[in-house]
Amino acid sequence: MLRAISLADTYKYTAKPNPVVGALILKDEIIISEGAHERFGENHAEINAIEGANKQFGKSFESFADLILICTLEPCNHSGKTGPCTKAIIDSGIKKVIIGSEDPNPIVAGKGIDKLIENGINVEVGLCKNLVERQNKFFFFKHKNKRPYLTAKIASSADGKSHKKDGRSTWITCEESRQDVQRVRAKYDAILTGGNTVRDDNPRMNARVNFEVNQPKKILLSNKHDLKETGNNFFRDAEVQVITEINLKKIISSFQDLEYCSILIEAGPKLVNAFLLNDLIDELIIYQSQDLLGLNGVDWFKKDNAIENLGFKLESSYKIKTDTKYIYKKNVKR
Ligand SMILES: NC(=O)c1ccc[n+]([C@@H]2O[C@H](COP(=O)([O-])OP(=O)(O)OC[C@H]3O[C@@H](n4cnc5c(N)ncnc54)[C@H](OP(=O)(O)O)[C@@H]3O)[C@@H](O)[C@H]2O)c1
Repeated sequence: MLRAISLADTYKYTAKPNPVVGALILKDEIIISEGAHERFGENHAEINAIEGANKQFGKSFESFADLILICTLEPCNHSGKTGPCTKAIIDSGIKKVIIGSEDPNPIVAGKGIDKLIENGINVEVGLCKNLVERQNKFFFFKHKNKRPYLTAKIASSADGKSHKKDGRSTWITCEESRQDVQRVRAKYDAILTGGNTVRDDNPRMNARVNFEVNQPKKILLSNKHDLKETGNNFFRDAEVQVITEINLKKIISSFQDLEYCSILIEAGPKLVNAFLLNDLIDELIIYQSQDLLGLNGVDWFKKDNAIENLGFKLESSYKIKTDTKYIYKKNVKR
């Protein structure tokens, strides 16, 4: 199971917003084949492992009934972008399946396991369950809370400012922090910003990394209808969902039925504070520089200890060259 979990992890930037899944097929404790869900929309892990085993039939083993399938997540029992994995397993003739965790997605949840059992397959569930949940943190969060995991990422000067009052765009943090932001973006299913940030900074907000990534979708909250026509960078690279509704709770609950399991919010103080005050942020990442913006800067927060007073706890902090990266999480277990 640990091998299947680490195989799954290899594809964390390309399988999203799907969960990462790994599978192995064994005979007498020897690995016959292995598979993973490599890219969103492509074969599930179990299918890749079964296809690998088919190639070994008559060489490494004589009957599928002698094989054990290990998979990190419950096999699906529905036809989505690919056929049901339960059918492929049943048709293969495999008689024993060991599963790390039940799939929390209501269209699967327990139905895949039941289907295998109904077809005379010996099923064990729960091996390394915590690790499977941890490696698919956003996916499990989404199905438990019926909304995506929301992280706000902000860059702050040493004196707590977001940007200059005159609206002139300025880099607050060092080059190394900005590269770190690219890797953070690569983990999320979507990036969300507000109208003013797109107007003032004209950001691309894609993940510019040197590895393969299923690029995050983009979400713009703006009701002024003036942005797309001006050819802003934000509209390059990926699909953009423009939302004119201003009630943030309504917006976030409307994401329940969309594919996003995680959203990174990269906006200015107005939108970030609106999310915080609506108790919608699960994680806050602050890149803090050593420079001051002084009286020419706009405050991120109006009061001292604003983050702590909203129930956030510092989880980790470390230096990135001249800056410090702080990660805060909500005190409550969601
Ligand atoms: N330091 C950093 O990490 C960082 C990051 C991003 C941006 N910035 C800076 O922040 C500045 C812009 O900040 P800002 O605070 O003025 O704007 P903002 O937070 O980026 O965006 C506010 C805009 O979001 C839209 N919006 C939709 N629903 C909203 C709601 N419920 N509450 C609040 N806004 C909502 C509105 O757009 P419409 O007006 O279009 O309807 C509103 O004007 C830029 O100059 C940029 O340089 C800094």
